[in-house]
Amino acid sequence: MSEQMNAVGLYKHLPISEDNSLVDVTVDKPEAFGHDILVKIQAVSVNPVDTKVRANGEEEQEPKILGYDAAGIVESVGEEVSSFKPGDEVYYAGVISRPGTNSEFHLVDERIAAKKPQTLSFREAAALPLTSLTAWEALYERLGISEDKDTNKGKSILIIGAAGGVGSIATQLAYDAGLTVIGTASRQETVTWAEDHGAHHTINHRDPLPPQLRDLGIEHVDYIFCLSSTAEHWDNMVEAIAPQGKICSIVETENQLDLTALQQKSAAFVWEFMFTRPLFQTEDVQEQQRILARIAEKIDSNSIQTTLTETLTGLNAKQLQEAHKKVESGKMIGKIVVEAE
Ligand SMILES: NC(=O)c1ccc[n+]([C@@H]2O[C@H](COP(=O)([O-])OP(=O)(O)OC[C@H]3O[C@@H](n4cnc5c(N)ncnc54)[C@H](OP(=O)(O)O)[C@@H]3O)[C@@H](O)[C@H]2O)c1
Repeated sequence: MSEQMNAVGLYKHLPISEDNSLVDVTVDKPEAFGHDILVKIQAVSVNPVDTKVRANGEEEQEPKILGYDAAGIVESVGEEVSSFKPGDEVYYAGVISRPGTNSEFHLVDERIAAKKPQTLSFREAAALPLTSLTAWEALYERLGISEDKDTNKGKSILIIGAAGGVGSIATQLAYDAGLTVIGTASRQETVTWAEDHGAHHTINHRDPLPPQLRDLGIEHVDYIFCLSSTAEHWDNMVEAIAPQGKICSIVETENQLDLTALQQKSAAFVWEFMFTRPLFQTEDVQEQQRILARIAEKIDSNSIQTTLTETLTGLNAKQLQEAHKKVESGKMIGKIVVEAE
């Protein structure tokens, strides 16, 4: 009989208020082959994707394990692994098509993991990978923003949803790149958090955005990064984007988006989905290792900070249900992490 491990999974996709929306389970401990590393999980984070996958789907025959952010210690490595050895401390998001990180041990492809920032604890590191990969790919790749401060002089970015998980790292990266950062936040706590994490200005996403920008003396912004309700913010984004500007969204929508509205401005719209590289095994999948290594460098050199705001202890169904509830509230500031005891 193979070795067993504890995990948190689900058989039925239920509202989080139901007792068995997440359950403690025992499953086979996986083994690492090929490019996989087996990681002993120290801490995980919960993202909106966990709640979306939990709420959507058929009944499962095997427990479905969620979790798309982790920090831990390499336990063993597959025969083709060249980046890591047992004992290395790593952090990563993983991929949506494989079992998630909410388990004692977890397999991940080495090409999408990196050494964790040396100056952070496991829980501080676990807050970062998914949101950092998303923000990095969106800013530097999809929007094509330069990493060079001088090139970005005089350029501006509007970040819609600046105090949430992705917003908290995106505002820091955009500030660090020398852009003028306008973040949106609707409550005093989120305004303060966004301004403390790189937003030069804040405006309220519950009110029309262009007049608030004009009040700041800003007619148009060069870039928009949309982290909430793409369709709801569409008309505002069309009006606020500069001629030849670029808009990136990470939030799927069932509504039709009127791309023609961007034609006169020759403005671009692009999606970012941080699972694209590992999901499609693109040739450049290893870029995610490089991005996480760059994030670690920026953390260790104090250019940016972890976005951890709350830690729950005990990697079990009860604590993960608590974390899911908080994320589902839509009022997250920074990131919530669940650490193993
Ligand atoms: N495509 C991808 O690869 C990818 C990656 C990560 C996340 N996502 C998606 O991106 C979204 C954001 O993720 P997240 O982790 O940043 O979420 P989050 O941490 O839960 O975001 C919470 C923030 O959203 C803000 N917010 C609430 N309603 C808003 C509205 N109508 N307009 C603008 N902001 C609003 C809140 O600010 P106030 O409290 O001030 O209202 C709060 O601070 C989620 O839908 C998630 O699934 C996609």
